[in-house]
Amino acid sequence: MLSHTRADFPKGFLFGAATSSYQIEGHAAGGAGRTQWDDFASTPGNVTRAQNGDVACDHYHRWPEDLDLLRDGNFDVYRFSTSWARVMPEGRGPVNAEGLDFYDRLVDGMLERGLKPAATLYHWELPSPLLDLGGWRNRDIAQWFADYTEVIMSRIGDRVWSAAPINEPWCVGWMSHFLGHHAPGVADIRATARAMHHVMLAHGRATEVMRGLGMKNLGAVCNFEYATPADASPEAQAAARRYDGYYNRFFIGGLFNKRYPDDVLEGLGPHMPKGWQDDMDLIGQPLDWLGINYYTRKLIQATDGPWPSLEEVPGPLPKTQVGWEIFPEGLHTMIRRVHDGYTRGLPIYVTENGMASDDHVVNGAVSDKARVAYLDAHLKQVRRAIDEGVPVKGYFAWSLLDNYEWNHGYGPRFGLVHVDYKTLTRLPKSSYHALREALIR
Ligand code: FCB
Repeated sequence: MLSHTRADFPKGFLFGAATSSYQIEGHAAGGAGRTQWDDFASTPGNVTRAQNGDVACDHYHRWPEDLDLLRDGNFDVYRFSTSWARVMPEGRGPVNAEGLDFYDRLVDGMLERGLKPAATLYHWELPSPLLDLGGWRNRDIAQWFADYTEVIMSRIGDRVWSAAPINEPWCVGWMSHFLGHHAPGVADIRATARAMHHVMLAHGRATEVMRGLGMKNLGAVCNFEYATPADASPEAQAAARRYDGYYNRFFIGGLFNKRYPDDVLEGLGPHMPKGWQDDMDLIGQPLDWLGINYYTRKLIQATDGPWPSLEEVPGPLPKTQVGWEIFPEGLHTMIRRVHDGYTRGLPIYVTENGMASDDHVVNGAVSDKARVAYLDAHLKQVRRAIDEGVPVKGYFAWSLLDNYEWNHGYGPRFGLVHVDYKTLTRLPKSSYHALREALIR
């Protein structure tokens, strides 16, 4: 049972669940092009068991059943993403009519079930031919992305409720080009600086295109982690601040204040593409809302290595299946910081929040009590921010379904609904039932 129900939230507060294209659709179906995740997964050592998104949850064929689950769970809104490579298999030029038809049917399917479609244009499945041209390191990607935006939104933009260009710029820029944990697996500071700026530029161009198409309710979705100094030393404090800079402040600084933080430019400045300052007006153009994805905090200590001269250390709090500490208060802090220093009154949505657990079917049911407690604790923090006057307007659980968890493959289960990857059978877990009961209209 959850402690809050729909009635405890302001009228019109939206509850949703989120997924992304490559993680659920099954990319081998329907004429989708090859993506950087197919390449990354076929290279030994990158992904657990070298698993890829060829089949995933077969949502491409089973989407009516998945939308029924959302409707029957009493959700109001569904956050999904469109795959660039499904719409344009080469990334540029030819359009895959079957792919466009698929998203057209999917959006109509949501509307028929009374669900608001919340679209994201890019959740990491870069078409491989664009990676051959440098991917996010190449400034031209902003125009390629704008062209793709025009193609897909000319088809579904009249019916989506909201749209955001890019899921989690930090993951595209930093995790994929500095840490090398995600495709394309680069660990290079110059590539990072370029990717971090170009992802913002692509956001700006796509937003312009969508405004040009007359679309409304456009936002951005960023991820945030609460950075905690590992000890009381000034060195650890400064290190946590540096982490906070490139993780939490860089992107919202660009989006809402038209500037990147000085402490991040100390490290990235020398590697930024020439003339980046001239792009800040495009990047910081007005938005209608911000989406916050929040999962965990990190304990940070200083090192004497090169900038950012820090490392994560394991913390003492209870952890999820992927080792992330559970720290609900961090969600409240991040919402407040974003509101006070950046969005200043714009609607905020929690666009992802959830946990991985090693769920099993026992006697035809999945009892995921830890997830129910996690959602409950985080919803309380949302409620707290609302009580303080912050305009949080909705909350999306990640994820509707167990799915392809990137470099971890299919091991971590984040779903409200269990997926048997052999039979592709869906089975709602206790967390789904708890939400369904709390959300009765
Ligand atoms: C987020 C991603 C999502 C999923 C969750 C667990 O960073 O947006 O695709 O991997 O983490």
